Amino acid sequence: MEQDFSMLDAIISKYRNRSGILIPLLQDVQHTLGYLSKEAMRYVSVQMGIPAADIYGVATFYSMFKLKPQGKHIIRVCKGTACHVSDADGIKEALRSELGLQGDEDTTSDMMFTLMEVACLGCCSLAPVIMVDDTTYGKLNPESIKAILERYGEEA
Ligand code: FES
Repeated sequence: MEQDFSMLDAIISKYRNRSGILIPLLQDVQHTLGYLSKEAMRYVSVQMGIPAADIYGVATFYSMFKLKPQGKHIIRVCKGTACHVSDADGIKEALRSELGLQGDEDTTSDMMFTLMEVACLGCCSLAPVIMVDDTTYGKLNPESIKAILERYGEEA
């Protein structure tokens, strides 16, 4: 069944017949839908008369664009040098294990958490560091992960 993307029509008419608008257009679409699905990109392509390959190219090039649904809470694991040498891998493994993520999954099945790796978060003296949404947690060890996640699980 065709998905209804009429909620995007106001955004599309705002950008129609303007050039150099692909990034802000896709930002607005993502803001509305939470992520850029293939179907949404196809809809924008047809409505705007922009080749789908151009839209997909921009959406995959910039890390700010999400091509999959995101969890309610975003967990960023720092993989910068200082964190890397302070067992960022162990922190990531503890997170994946606590969240029950399998294989290449990065979002929990209840859509509560999405896990991603990022470069230096700018607080290397606290390595290893993670951020959950806007909150930074530092000087972590794998055993500290469970208690941090529980703070977010309780409000579910
Ligand atoms: S390397 Fe992790 S905060 Fe800088």
